Amino acid sequence: MKALVLYSSETGRTKKLAEAVLSVLPANTDFLPMEEAPESFDDYDIVFAGIWFLNLKLDEKSRSLLPRLKAKKVALFATMHRDLFSDDISKNLRQAVELLPEGVWVAGTHVVYVDESMAEIPLGVDELLDTETVKNFAENTYSRIENNPAA
Ligand SMILES: Cc1cc2nc3c(=O)[nH]c(=O)nc-3n(C[C@H](O)[C@H](O)[C@H](O)COP(=O)(O)O)c2cc1C
Repeated sequence: MKALVLYSSETGRTKKLAEAVLSVLPANTDFLPMEEAPESFDDYDIVFAGIWFLNLKLDEKSRSLLPRLKAKKVALFATMHRDLFSDDISKNLRQAVELLPEGVWVAGTHVVYVDESMAEIPLGVDELLDTETVKNFAENTYSRIENNPAA
């Protein structure tokens, strides 16, 4: 089984989550920013894609990449403001899911919250970003597919 981790990141948080995802996946996993994504994703059993939001809109790189992410399975992980209303969270995720080509299997979604007061500041050493839950998400998603490709 082979995985790819793709991410879009401006101030570094989504990249940090992507690195956490990579750290729990097998050594043969590929890791790329979205602007360096390959033309074809046929080599991968699953693609983990890291996305973020600006004024309730999916970031630009993800908006251009997701429609061509014709992979067997895609798992999305995102950073979002901590104080969004719950329906903003599902609307945000839905924007991303709906951009994926028809037939792509969404293997899972995961959100890590960032403090709104930090949103405009690049990720600093003092900022606590919860990388543990995204690691669990990646591990569980990967092993579920490995044990049962139809899951
Ligand atoms: C002007 C501005 C608008 C933002 N709007 C949203 C938003 O609508 N929803 C959200 O969840 N986060 C929003 N954010 C927070 C970013 O999505 C968050 O900081 C994200 O972690 C940035 O990802 P990056 O560090 O990987 O670039 C906003 C940040 C800025 C600076």
